[in-house]
Amino acid sequence: MKVRKAVIPAAGLGTRFLPVTKSVPKELLPILDRPMLQYVVEEAAEAGIGEVIIVTARGKESIAAYFQPAPALEQRLSGSGAAGLQEKVRHASSLADVSFVIQEEPLGLGHAVLQAKNAVGGEPFAVILPDDIIAHSPGALTQMLEVAGRLDAGVVAVEAVPMELVPNYGVVAATPREERVHQVHRMVEKPPVEEAPSNLAVVGRYILPPEVFDCLERTTPGAKDEIQLTDGMSLLLEEQDLYAYEFLGTRYDGGNPLGLLRASLEFALAQDETREAVKALVKNLPL
Ligand code: G1P
Repeated sequence: MKVRKAVIPAAGLGTRFLPVTKSVPKELLPILDRPMLQYVVEEAAEAGIGEVIIVTARGKESIAAYFQPAPALEQRLSGSGAAGLQEKVRHASSLADVSFVIQEEPLGLGHAVLQAKNAVGGEPFAVILPDDIIAHSPGALTQMLEVAGRLDAGVVAVEAVPMELVPNYGVVAATPREERVHQVHRMVEKPPVEEAPSNLAVVGRYILPPEVFDCLERTTPGAKDEIQLTDGMSLLLEEQDLYAYEFLGTRYDGGNPLGLLRASLEFALAQDETREAVKALVKNLPL
């Protein structure tokens, strides 16, 4: 299955990061020196996805600015002998062909994805939630594309979570089919613990057929009174097979300050240039 396009919903208010999100979009908050959004665009590029459609909201124009080339800055860096920095700046704007669609009203994740219908057209596509940062090589999307291609069906990423956390997620009822792969029978968004069909929680990576757009058009508001992607996929399940894939990798919840801190520390520990300094820093913490 050839997937050329990814939709990245980035229209939310980022309330868990207020007050910083008064003026800085959550998606541009950094893990070390790169915004969260860049990590997921890199994951898409690694999976061979060359076109990224970011669904954003008014007031978040700095997201578009981030992906624009910055020739004046690059020239200054090259003139001052900072070739490494120049390369980092150039890299950020050359990862993918990035375009933007505005979600005029915050009507939910399913509604946000639906705004990309025309930009995606009639082909399978990926959805990436930039809050969910997944560290692994190969990346989660690369892993999922292999499964989607082999089974010729849509695939959603899932992770087994402690039962008390299922009310925070979309949750699947599914039958194991092969290692890490389950066939989905039912999906429910943010169920109470006692109604959850399993503890397999949807994480923010999806490979979906274009028919999901028609389903989203028929989807009525659900959890939190919003049009949910999970509910759109439930309608899709009436017509098509869908699989849940337990990805390899560590997921970080970049949607809240502590999750972002954890990602920053672990990423810094994983990098040769920063590992020893971070170890020393952690060792000297006044615990
Ligand atoms: C969204 C989805 C949910 C999914 C989660 C993964 O919820 O609606 O199905 O499990 O992302 O991060 P949100 O975190 O936006 O409330």
